[in-house]
Amino acid sequence: MTERIVLAYSGGLDTSVAIGWIGEATGAEVIAVAVDVGQGGESLETIRQRALGCGAVEAYVADASDEFANEYCMPTLKANALYQGHYPLVSAISRPVIVKHLVKAAREFGATTVAHGCTGKGNDQVRFEVGIQTLGPDLKCIAPVRDLALTRDKAIAFAEEKGLPIETTKKNPYSIDQNVWGRAVETGYLEDIWNGPTKDIYDYTATPEFPPAPDEVTISFEAGVPVAIDGVKVTPLQAIKELNRRAGAQGVGRIDVVEDRLVGIKSREIYEAPGAMALITAHKHLEDITIEREQARFKATVGQRWSELVYDGQWFSPLKRSLDAFIEDTQRYVTGDIRMVLHGGQAIVNGRRSETSLYDFDLATYDTGDTFDQSMARGFIELWGMSAKVASGRDIRVAGQ
Ligand code: ARG
Repeated sequence: MTERIVLAYSGGLDTSVAIGWIGEATGAEVIAVAVDVGQGGESLETIRQRALGCGAVEAYVADASDEFANEYCMPTLKANALYQGHYPLVSAISRPVIVKHLVKAAREFGATTVAHGCTGKGNDQVRFEVGIQTLGPDLKCIAPVRDLALTRDKAIAFAEEKGLPIETTKKNPYSIDQNVWGRAVETGYLEDIWNGPTKDIYDYTATPEFPPAPDEVTISFEAGVPVAIDGVKVTPLQAIKELNRRAGAQGVGRIDVVEDRLVGIKSREIYEAPGAMALITAHKHLEDITIEREQARFKATVGQRWSELVYDGQWFSPLKRSLDAFIEDTQRYVTGDIRMVLHGGQAIVNGRRSETSLYDFDLATYDTGDTFDQSMARGFIELWGMSAKVASGRDIRVAGQ
Protein backbone atom coordinates (compact mmCIF):
# COMPACT_ATOMS: atom_id res chain seq x y z
CA MET A 1 0.00 0.00 0.00
CA THR A 2 1.21 3.51 -0.78
CA GLU A 3 2.42 5.35 2.27
CA ARG A 4 0.21 8.16 3.52
CA ILE A 5 1.19 11.47 5.07
CA VAL A 6 -1.12 13.91 6.84
CA LEU A 7 -0.18 17.54 6.33
CA ALA A 8 -1.16 20.47 8.58
CA TYR A 9 -2.74 22.60 5.87
CA SER A 10 -3.45 26.34 6.16
CA GLY A 11 -4.64 27.01 2.62
CA GLY A 12 -1.69 29.35 1.96
CA LEU A 13 0.99 29.10 -0.72
CA ASP A 14 3.60 27.09 1.19
CA THR A 15 1.36 24.31 2.43
CA SER A 16 -0.55 24.17 -0.89
CA VAL A 17 2.71 23.57 -2.73
CA ALA A 18 3.83 21.19 0.01
CA ILE A 19 1.08 18.75 -1.01
CA GLY A 20 2.68 18.08 -4.40
CA TRP A 21 6.22 18.66 -3.19
CA ILE A 22 5.94 15.98 -0.50
CA GLY A 23 4.30 13.66 -3.01
CA GLU A 24 7.18 14.05 -5.47
CA ALA A 25 9.90 13.77 -2.82
CA THR A 26 8.51 10.75 -0.98
CA GLY A 27 6.06 9.01 -3.31
CA ALA A 28 3.45 9.13 -0.56
CA GLU A 29 -0.19 10.18 -0.76
CA VAL A 30 -0.97 13.41 1.05
CA ILE A 31 -4.01 14.06 3.21
CA ALA A 32 -4.54 17.75 3.98
CA VAL A 33 -5.78 18.62 7.48
CA ALA A 34 -7.23 22.09 8.08
CA VAL A 35 -8.26 23.11 11.58
CA ASP A 36 -10.47 26.09 12.35
CA VAL A 37 -9.22 27.74 15.55
CA GLY A 38 -11.19 30.90 14.90
CA GLN A 39 -8.66 32.43 12.51
CA GLY A 40 -11.41 33.86 10.28
CA GLY A 41 -10.78 34.36 6.58
CA GLU A 42 -11.74 31.70 4.08
CA SER A 43 -14.35 29.03 4.75
CA LEU A 44 -13.22 25.52 5.56
CA GLU A 45 -14.98 24.31 2.40
CA THR A 46 -12.94 26.69 0.19
CA ILE A 47 -9.76 25.47 1.88
CA ARG A 48 -10.85 21.84 1.44
CA GLN A 49 -11.46 22.31 -2.28
CA ARG A 50 -8.09 23.99 -2.73
CA ALA A 51 -6.30 21.12 -0.99
CA LEU A 52 -7.97 18.65 -3.35
CA GLY A 53 -7.16 20.93 -6.32
CA CYS A 54 -3.50 20.90 -5.26
CA GLY A 55 -3.41 17.10 -5.31
CA ALA A 56 -4.39 15.94 -1.84
CA VAL A 57 -6.05 12.50 -1.92
CA GLU A 58 -8.26 13.47 1.00
CA ALA A 59 -8.98 16.69 2.87
CA TYR A 60 -9.97 16.61 6.54
CA VAL A 61 -11.40 19.80 7.96
CA ALA A 62 -12.25 20.34 11.61
CA ASP A 63 -14.19 23.14 13.19
CA ALA A 64 -12.29 23.23 16.46
CA SER A 65 -13.13 26.79 17.44
CA ASP A 66 -15.22 25.91 20.51
CA GLU A 67 -12.79 23.16 21.49
CA PHE A 68 -9.94 25.65 21.18
CA ALA A 69 -11.74 28.30 23.25
CA ASN A 70 -12.88 25.86 25.98
CA GLU A 71 -9.86 23.60 26.35
CA TYR A 72 -6.95 25.84 25.35
CA CYS A 73 -7.88 29.51 25.75
CA MET A 74 -9.68 29.04 29.09
CA PRO A 75 -6.73 27.30 30.81
CA THR A 76 -4.52 30.12 29.47
CA LEU A 77 -6.91 32.65 31.01
CA LYS A 78 -7.03 30.80 34.34
CA ALA A 79 -3.22 30.88 34.40
CA ASN A 80 -3.20 34.61 33.43
CA ALA A 81 -0.53 33.32 31.08
CA LEU A 82 1.79 35.94 29.63
CA TYR A 83 5.14 34.61 28.41
CA GLN A 84 7.92 36.98 29.51
CA GLY A 85 5.19 39.11 31.04
CA HIS A 86 3.79 40.15 27.65
CA TYR A 87 2.72 37.44 25.23
CA PRO A 88 -0.60 35.63 25.77
CA LEU A 89 0.65 32.48 23.94
CA VAL A 90 -1.53 32.91 20.87
CA SER A 91 0.34 30.54 18.53
CA ALA A 92 1.71 28.35 21.29
CA ILE A 93 -1.77 27.19 22.40
CA SER A 94 -3.09 26.58 18.89
CA ARG A 95 -0.42 23.99 18.01
CA PRO A 96 -1.55 21.36 20.52
CA VAL A 97 -5.16 21.45 19.30
CA ILE A 98 -3.98 21.19 15.70
CA VAL A 99 -1.74 18.27 16.75
CA LYS A 100 -4.76 16.49 18.26
CA HIS A 101 -6.57 16.68 14.94
CA LEU A 102 -3.48 15.71 12.94
CA VAL A 103 -3.06 12.56 15.01
CA LYS A 104 -6.78 11.80 14.77
CA ALA A 105 -6.66 12.20 10.98
CA ALA A 106 -3.51 10.07 10.76
CA ARG A 107 -5.39 7.26 12.53
CA GLU A 108 -8.51 7.69 10.42
CA PHE A 109 -6.66 7.62 7.11
CA GLY A 110 -3.93 5.14 8.01
CA ALA A 111 -1.03 7.59 7.74
CA THR A 112 2.43 6.86 9.11
CA THR A 113 3.82 10.38 8.97
CA VAL A 114 2.74 13.89 9.89
CA ALA A 115 3.99 16.96 8.01
CA HIS A 116 3.89 20.65 8.89
CA GLY A 117 4.97 23.82 7.11
CA CYS A 118 7.23 25.32 9.78
CA THR A 119 10.79 26.49 9.20
CA GLY A 120 13.74 25.20 11.19
CA LYS A 121 14.17 28.44 13.15
CA GLY A 122 11.00 28.81 15.14
CA ASN A 123 9.08 27.45 18.10
CA ASP A 124 6.20 26.02 16.14
CA GLN A 125 8.18 23.11 14.66
CA VAL A 126 9.01 22.08 18.23
CA ARG A 127 5.41 22.39 19.41
CA PHE A 128 4.10 20.30 16.50
CA GLU A 129 6.70 17.58 16.75
CA VAL A 130 6.83 17.27 20.53
CA GLY A 131 3.02 17.11 20.52
CA ILE A 132 2.99 14.44 17.83
CA GLN A 133 5.67 12.40 19.58
CA THR A 134 3.53 12.50 22.72
CA LEU A 135 0.12 11.72 21.23
CA GLY A 136 1.31 9.43 18.45
CA PRO A 137 4.71 8.02 19.40
CA ASP A 138 4.70 5.71 16.37
CA LEU A 139 4.23 8.59 13.90
CA LYS A 140 7.13 10.15 12.00
CA CYS A 141 7.39 13.89 11.34
CA ILE A 142 8.59 15.81 8.33
CA ALA A 143 8.72 19.51 7.59
CA PRO A 144 8.96 20.18 3.82
CA VAL A 145 10.20 23.75 4.27
CA ARG A 146 12.92 22.58 6.65
CA ASP A 147 13.66 19.00 5.53
CA LEU A 148 12.76 18.98 1.82
CA ALA A 149 14.23 22.39 0.90
CA LEU A 150 10.95 23.99 -0.06
CA THR A 151 11.86 27.69 -0.23
CA ARG A 152 9.43 30.46 -1.11
CA ASP A 153 10.91 30.98 -4.60
CA LYS A 154 10.67 27.27 -5.31
CA ALA A 155 7.11 27.25 -4.02
CA ILE A 156 6.10 30.00 -6.43
CA ALA A 157 7.86 28.32 -9.36
CA PHE A 158 6.27 24.95 -8.49
CA ALA A 159 2.76 26.45 -8.19
CA GLU A 160 3.08 28.20 -11.56
CA GLU A 161 4.56 25.20 -13.33
CA LYS A 162 1.80 22.89 -12.08
CA GLY A 163 -0.95 25.49 -12.45
CA LEU A 164 -2.06 25.06 -8.83
CA PRO A 165 -5.23 26.90 -7.82
CA ILE A 166 -3.40 29.29 -5.53
CA GLU A 167 -2.35 32.92 -5.78
CA THR A 168 1.43 33.36 -6.22
CA THR A 169 1.67 37.05 -7.01
CA LYS A 170 0.38 38.49 -3.76
CA LYS A 171 3.42 39.77 -1.95
CA ASN A 172 3.09 39.43 1.79
CA PRO A 173 6.15 40.74 3.57
CA TYR A 174 5.09 39.34 6.96
CA SER A 175 4.67 35.94 8.51
CA ILE A 176 1.28 35.95 10.18
CA ASP A 177 -0.41 33.44 12.45
CA GLN A 178 -3.84 34.10 13.87
CA ASN A 179 -6.68 32.53 15.79
CA VAL A 180 -9.45 33.70 18.07
CA TRP A 181 -7.03 34.28 20.98
CA GLY A 182 -4.96 36.75 18.93
CA ARG A 183 -2.69 37.45 16.02
CA ALA A 184 1.09 37.27 15.60
CA VAL A 185 3.02 39.21 12.96
CA GLU A 186 6.74 38.89 12.32
CA THR A 187 9.58 39.20 9.77
CA GLY A 188 10.24 41.74 7.02
CA TYR A 189 10.52 45.38 8.02
CA LEU A 190 9.90 44.42 11.68
CA GLU A 191 13.25 42.57 11.89
CA ASP A 192 14.90 45.95 12.43
CA ILE A 193 13.86 46.31 16.05
CA TRP A 194 14.09 50.11 15.91
CA ASN A 195 11.40 50.22 13.19
CA GLY A 196 7.97 51.03 14.56
CA PRO A 197 5.10 48.96 13.19
CA THR A 198 3.12 50.64 10.45
CA LYS A 199 -0.68 50.78 10.69
CA ASP A 200 -1.21 48.17 7.96
CA ILE A 201 0.25 45.49 10.24
CA TYR A 202 -2.81 45.53 12.46
CA ASP A 203 -6.04 43.73 11.79
CA TYR A 204 -7.68 42.83 15.14
CA THR A 205 -7.21 46.31 16.60
CA ALA A 206 -8.19 49.71 15.23
CA THR A 207 -6.11 52.90 15.17
CA PRO A 208 -9.01 55.30 15.23
CA GLU A 209 -8.39 58.83 13.89
CA PHE A 210 -11.22 60.00 16.10
CA PRO A 211 -11.25 57.62 19.07
CA PRO A 212 -14.70 56.27 19.85
CA ALA A 213 -16.33 57.08 23.21
CA PRO A 214 -15.12 54.91 26.11
CA ASP A 215 -16.83 51.54 26.22
CA GLU A 216 -17.80 50.25 29.67
CA VAL A 217 -18.25 46.50 29.89
CA THR A 218 -19.16 44.12 32.70
CA ILE A 219 -17.75 40.62 32.50
CA SER A 220 -19.19 37.91 34.75
CA PHE A 221 -17.05 34.92 35.66
CA GLU A 222 -17.83 31.55 37.19
CA ALA A 223 -14.90 29.55 38.54
CA GLY A 224 -12.49 31.58 36.42
CA VAL A 225 -14.43 31.32 33.16
CA PRO A 226 -16.37 34.20 31.55
CA VAL A 227 -20.07 33.32 31.44
CA ALA A 228 -21.79 36.63 30.65
CA ILE A 229 -21.03 40.00 29.12
CA ASP A 230 -23.23 42.90 30.20
CA GLY A 231 -25.63 40.34 31.62
CA VAL A 232 -25.96 38.38 28.38
CA LYS A 233 -24.93 34.74 28.69
CA VAL A 234 -21.95 33.74 26.52
CA THR A 235 -19.83 30.70 25.79
CA PRO A 236 -16.05 31.11 26.14
CA LEU A 237 -15.79 31.43 22.34
CA GLN A 238 -18.48 34.11 22.25
CA ALA A 239 -16.84 35.97 25.13
CA ILE A 240 -13.49 36.10 23.34
CA LYS A 241 -15.09 37.15 20.04
CA GLU A 242 -17.24 39.85 21.62
CA LEU A 243 -14.23 41.30 23.45
CA ASN A 244 -12.07 41.06 20.33
CA ARG A 245 -14.65 43.28 18.69
CA ARG A 246 -15.19 45.77 21.52
CA ALA A 247 -11.65 45.96 22.92
CA GLY A 248 -10.25 45.81 19.37
CA ALA A 249 -12.27 48.88 18.39
CA GLN A 250 -10.52 50.75 21.23
CA GLY A 251 -7.05 49.57 20.23
CA VAL A 252 -6.65 47.38 23.33
CA GLY A 253 -4.18 44.47 23.29
CA ARG A 254 -1.35 45.64 21.04
CA ILE A 255 1.98 44.14 22.03
CA ASP A 256 5.40 44.88 20.51
CA VAL A 257 8.19 42.75 21.99
CA VAL A 258 11.51 41.04 21.43
CA GLU A 259 11.06 37.57 22.89
CA ASP A 260 13.26 34.58 23.63
CA ARG A 261 12.49 31.69 21.33
CA LEU A 262 13.08 28.16 22.55
CA VAL A 263 15.71 27.65 19.84
CA GLY A 264 17.89 30.37 21.39
CA ILE A 265 17.13 33.24 19.02
CA LYS A 266 15.66 36.57 20.13
CA SER A 267 12.91 37.66 17.77
CA ARG A 268 10.72 40.73 17.28
CA GLU A 269 7.01 40.07 17.39
CA ILE A 270 3.93 42.20 17.07
CA TYR A 271 0.83 40.72 18.67
CA GLU A 272 -2.75 41.83 18.83
CA ALA A 273 -4.93 40.12 21.38
CA PRO A 274 -7.73 42.49 22.36
CA GLY A 275 -10.12 39.87 23.74
CA ALA A 276 -7.41 37.87 25.47
CA MET A 277 -5.84 40.92 27.13
CA ALA A 278 -9.19 42.33 28.26
CA LEU A 279 -10.15 38.94 29.71
CA ILE A 280 -6.83 38.35 31.44
CA THR A 281 -6.98 41.83 33.00
CA ALA A 282 -10.54 41.29 34.25
CA HIS A 283 -9.79 37.77 35.47
CA LYS A 284 -6.70 38.88 37.38
CA HIS A 285 -8.66 41.61 39.13
CA LEU A 286 -11.34 39.13 40.15
CA GLU A 287 -8.63 36.83 41.52
CA ASP A 288 -7.31 39.76 43.54
CA ILE A 289 -10.48 39.75 45.63
CA THR A 290 -11.28 36.03 45.65
CA ILE A 291 -7.94 34.24 46.11
CA GLU A 292 -6.21 34.15 49.49
CA ARG A 293 -2.88 36.01 49.65
CA GLU A 294 -0.42 33.10 49.90
CA GLN A 295 -2.28 31.07 47.28
CA ALA A 296 -2.28 34.12 44.98
CA ARG A 297 1.43 34.75 45.39
CA PHE A 298 2.26 31.15 44.66
CA LYS A 299 -0.15 31.06 41.73
CA ALA A 300 1.72 33.90 40.03
CA THR A 301 4.87 31.76 40.06
CA VAL A 302 2.96 28.73 38.81
CA GLY A 303 1.39 30.80 36.04
CA GLN A 304 4.78 31.95 34.87
CA ARG A 305 6.18 28.42 34.81
CA TRP A 306 3.01 27.23 33.05
CA SER A 307 3.53 29.91 30.38
CA GLU A 308 7.10 28.83 29.80
CA LEU A 309 6.15 25.17 29.48
CA VAL A 310 3.40 25.97 27.00
CA TYR A 311 5.63 28.34 25.05
CA ASP A 312 8.30 25.63 24.93
CA GLY A 313 5.98 23.04 23.39
CA GLN A 314 5.25 21.04 26.58
CA TRP A 315 1.44 21.28 26.47
CA PHE A 316 1.01 17.53 26.87
CA SER A 317 3.76 17.09 29.48
CA PRO A 318 3.26 15.69 33.00
CA LEU A 319 4.45 18.88 34.71
CA LYS A 320 2.03 21.02 32.72
CA ARG A 321 -0.76 18.63 33.72
CA SER A 322 0.18 18.88 37.40
CA LEU A 323 0.28 22.68 37.25
CA ASP A 324 -3.15 22.62 35.57
CA ALA A 325 -4.50 20.76 38.59
CA PHE A 326 -3.12 23.41 40.94
CA ILE A 327 -4.47 26.28 38.83
CA GLU A 328 -7.87 24.62 38.54
CA ASP A 329 -8.05 24.28 42.32
CA THR A 330 -7.38 28.02 42.76
CA GLN A 331 -10.33 28.92 40.53
CA ARG A 332 -13.00 27.51 42.84
CA TYR A 333 -14.08 30.92 44.20
CA VAL A 334 -13.16 33.07 41.16
CA THR A 335 -16.78 33.96 40.59
CA GLY A 336 -18.21 37.44 40.24
CA ASP A 337 -18.41 40.54 38.08
CA ILE A 338 -15.72 42.87 36.84
CA ARG A 339 -16.57 46.22 35.31
CA MET A 340 -13.97 47.76 33.02
CA VAL A 341 -13.59 50.68 30.68
CA LEU A 342 -12.09 50.05 27.26
CA HIS A 343 -10.54 53.18 25.85
CA GLY A 344 -7.41 54.63 24.30
CA GLY A 345 -5.69 51.26 24.00
CA GLN A 346 -6.31 50.38 27.64
CA ALA A 347 -8.67 48.14 29.57
CA ILE A 348 -9.01 49.60 33.05
CA VAL A 349 -10.98 47.89 35.79
CA ASN A 350 -13.14 50.25 37.85
CA GLY A 351 -15.52 47.98 39.73
CA ARG A 352 -15.71 44.47 41.14
CA ARG A 353 -18.23 42.42 43.12
CA SER A 354 -18.37 38.82 44.21
CA GLU A 355 -20.35 36.63 46.59
CA THR A 356 -17.11 34.74 47.28
CA SER A 357 -14.96 37.82 47.84
CA LEU A 358 -12.38 37.98 50.64
CA TYR A 359 -12.55 41.77 50.68
CA ASP A 360 -14.00 42.66 54.07
CA PHE A 361 -15.31 46.21 54.19
CA ASP A 362 -15.43 46.26 57.98
CA LEU A 363 -11.77 45.25 58.20
CA ALA A 364 -10.63 47.62 55.46
CA THR A 365 -12.52 50.77 56.34
CA TYR A 366 -10.92 53.82 57.96
CA ASP A 367 -14.39 55.13 58.74
CA THR A 368 -16.70 54.23 61.60
CA GLY A 369 -17.62 50.56 61.60
CA ASP A 370 -13.95 49.52 61.68
CA THR A 371 -13.72 46.08 63.31
CA PHE A 372 -9.93 45.82 63.10
CA ASP A 373 -8.17 46.12 66.47
CA GLN A 374 -5.19 48.32 65.61
CA SER A 375 -3.44 47.57 68.91
CA MET A 376 -2.64 44.06 67.58
CA ALA A 377 -0.30 45.54 64.97
CA ARG A 378 2.45 46.59 67.42
CA GLY A 379 3.24 43.11 68.70
CA PHE A 380 2.95 41.64 65.23
CA ILE A 381 5.52 44.05 63.81
CA GLU A 382 7.87 43.41 66.74
CA LEU A 383 7.89 39.68 66.02
CA TRP A 384 7.91 40.06 62.24
CA GLY A 385 11.08 42.15 62.39
CA MET A 386 12.76 40.07 65.12
CA SER A 387 14.87 37.85 62.88
CA ALA A 388 16.30 40.72 60.81
CA LYS A 389 16.85 42.76 63.98
CA VAL A 390 18.89 39.98 65.62
CA ALA A 391 20.97 39.64 62.43
CA SER A 392 21.65 43.35 62.19
CA GLY A 393 22.73 43.33 65.84
CA ARG A 394 25.38 40.79 64.87
CA ASP A 395 26.50 42.96 61.91
CA ILE A 396 27.08 45.87 64.27
CA ARG A 397 28.89 43.64 66.79
CA VAL A 398 31.22 42.14 64.18
CA ALA A 399 31.97 45.50 62.58
CA GLY A 400 32.94 46.91 66.00
CA GLN A 401 35.52 44.19 66.69
N1 ARG B 1 6.76 33.84 18.23
C1 ARG B 1 5.44 33.43 18.50
C2 ARG B 1 5.45 32.08 19.13
O1 ARG B 1 6.42 31.41 19.05
C3 ARG B 1 4.54 33.49 17.30
C4 ARG B 1 4.85 32.59 16.16
C5 ARG B 1 3.91 32.85 15.09
N2 ARG B 1 4.12 32.13 13.90
C6 ARG B 1 4.17 32.73 12.73
N3 ARG B 1 4.29 31.98 11.68
N4 ARG B 1 4.10 34.02 12.58
O2 ARG B 1 4.50 31.67 19.74
